[in-house]
Amino acid sequence: MSYTVRKFDAVIVGAGGAGLRAAIQLSEAGFKTAVLTKVFPTRSHTVAAQGGVAASLGNSEEDHWHWHMYDTVKGSDWLGDQDAIEFMVRKANECVVELEHYGMPFDRLDNGKIYQRPFGGHMSNFGEKPVRRSCAAADRTGHAMLHAMYQRNVKVNTQFFVEWQALDLIRDAEGDVQGVTAMDMETGEVVAFHSKVTIFATGGAGRIFYSSTNAFINTGDGLGMAARAGIPLEDMEFWQFHPTGVAGAGVLITEGVRGEGGILRNASGERFMERYAPNAKDLASRDVVSRAMVTEINEGRGCGPNKDYVLLDITHLDPATIMKRLPGIREIGIQFAGVDAIKEPLPVVPTCHYQMGGIPTNYLGQVVIPGADGPNTVVNGFYAAGECACASVHGANRLGTNSLLDLLVFGKSAGETAVDELKKGAAAHKPLATEAIEKTLARLDRLNTQKDGANVHETRLEMQRSMQKHAGVFRFNDLLKAGVSKIMEVADAVAKTEIKDKSQVFNTARIEALELDNLIEVAKATMVSAEARKESRGAHVRDDAHDTPETPDGRDDKNWLKHTIWHREGNRLEYKPVQMKPLTVDTIELKKRAY
Ligand code: FUM
Repeated sequence: MSYTVRKFDAVIVGAGGAGLRAAIQLSEAGFKTAVLTKVFPTRSHTVAAQGGVAASLGNSEEDHWHWHMYDTVKGSDWLGDQDAIEFMVRKANECVVELEHYGMPFDRLDNGKIYQRPFGGHMSNFGEKPVRRSCAAADRTGHAMLHAMYQRNVKVNTQFFVEWQALDLIRDAEGDVQGVTAMDMETGEVVAFHSKVTIFATGGAGRIFYSSTNAFINTGDGLGMAARAGIPLEDMEFWQFHPTGVAGAGVLITEGVRGEGGILRNASGERFMERYAPNAKDLASRDVVSRAMVTEINEGRGCGPNKDYVLLDITHLDPATIMKRLPGIREIGIQFAGVDAIKEPLPVVPTCHYQMGGIPTNYLGQVVIPGADGPNTVVNGFYAAGECACASVHGANRLGTNSLLDLLVFGKSAGETAVDELKKGAAAHKPLATEAIEKTLARLDRLNTQKDGANVHETRLEMQRSMQKHAGVFRFNDLLKAGVSKIMEVADAVAKTEIKDKSQVFNTARIEALELDNLIEVAKATMVSAEARKESRGAHVRDDAHDTPETPDGRDDKNWLKHTIWHREGNRLEYKPVQMKPLTVDTIELKKRAY
């Protein structure tokens, strides 16, 4: 198999929010920037973000970045790095105003300022009561954001490669990154994109689970490529289940519904969140709400013939408010649940939504290889931002609307750091590491010549069912142990997948097989990391972690206040300390998390 080479100053993989934001930075500075994307940019998964982007603008009531910081640290169950969290929340207002200037059509208050709604876990005055912090464009905030940033990129001449599948990272003998190999889906042509800086903004990998709010494109491509190139993955045991996916379909129903006054009810119509989170109620942190819902269902208080969902009720809201603030949700209810939310409550269940872990980075967007006791080592020429990266601002559990903020802030900072490096001239094109490219070609050859191999669709389904069963909302010691063996079996099958169709033009069978190569790395990292973490924290809740005065709600700070680092080679785990020291303010000290 052959390949051609194309040279750029910067190559960005992924055209969702983080990729587009990073690209603006590089193209505006005059650097030749290529963005590779599997789908047209405005169809990237950011388009599905509904409820808003967090920023303490204080447009409707008093707010402060320090309160936002407190909420984010608490939401993360203290696993988030406090320097990166301070960096993110302090940049929030600037990033949102920038978007406004790019032309993003935010909803407005009567005085013309950006409309803000309450969201789970966002509180005023260090946890006192819910605050309006989520800047929203109805329930289509991600859609509006992507369009504004795509248009800005067109203006500054970013070059898009649409319907290209990135294949592998190109690392040289020193470990420096020199770009990526990628395949043009239209022709099957393989190109080595030789770049001075490479930014991964490939989004999440929610498709490792059977039930997910994630798009079919969310196959963890950046994580798979990083892992195969010897870069470890951080905190992969932490997966967020969004409380309100449409029962049976998994489609997202924004938390903004509860922000606008929606209420969760069980079979007897009880507002059950009053029992689990007496202060924040339906607006408690997502992990808390998801577990409360599953507990209601497991204890027989679910709704419907199989008692397997709960209800999200907005029938008490003014229909005009629903049509103005939540028009997309009404449409989703009608299309996917056959329910008009103005008249009847929506059937909902927790559904896999977001990965808190990812490729380890610092808050400047540089990819780092963490040292267990010593400093992080920066991987020259390599950056990551958005859901594929772990900065780590979300720790063990992310607050809603902090993901759009994360991709704006860290997309921009990765772009800025890359621009600085390019300006210094330190990152000249080094001779291309052809050995790395040969490995990719061998992987493609294997797929083209495999006989009597495993069926891609069946193998993927096996992986998704195993992840759902063994690493879901609640986790059990025995199931996790069995899950590790099961996922290793699936990995063996993935190494032998076979495609019957060997054609070059728009061969989606080949693309799905290549995506599965990435998904399985994420699944292995998740299962191995989850089995090893013997405590409950944030979204990772185990049956064998007990509530004692030393381990509140099963959280064991003495032994487990540390980040997991998974290495693909040998499924090896290391740990590194959590950064408890913020940039300028005092540490937000550990305490039991209650809402
Ligand atoms: O509920 C939502 O609108 C999702 C927001 C988020 O995941 O940040």
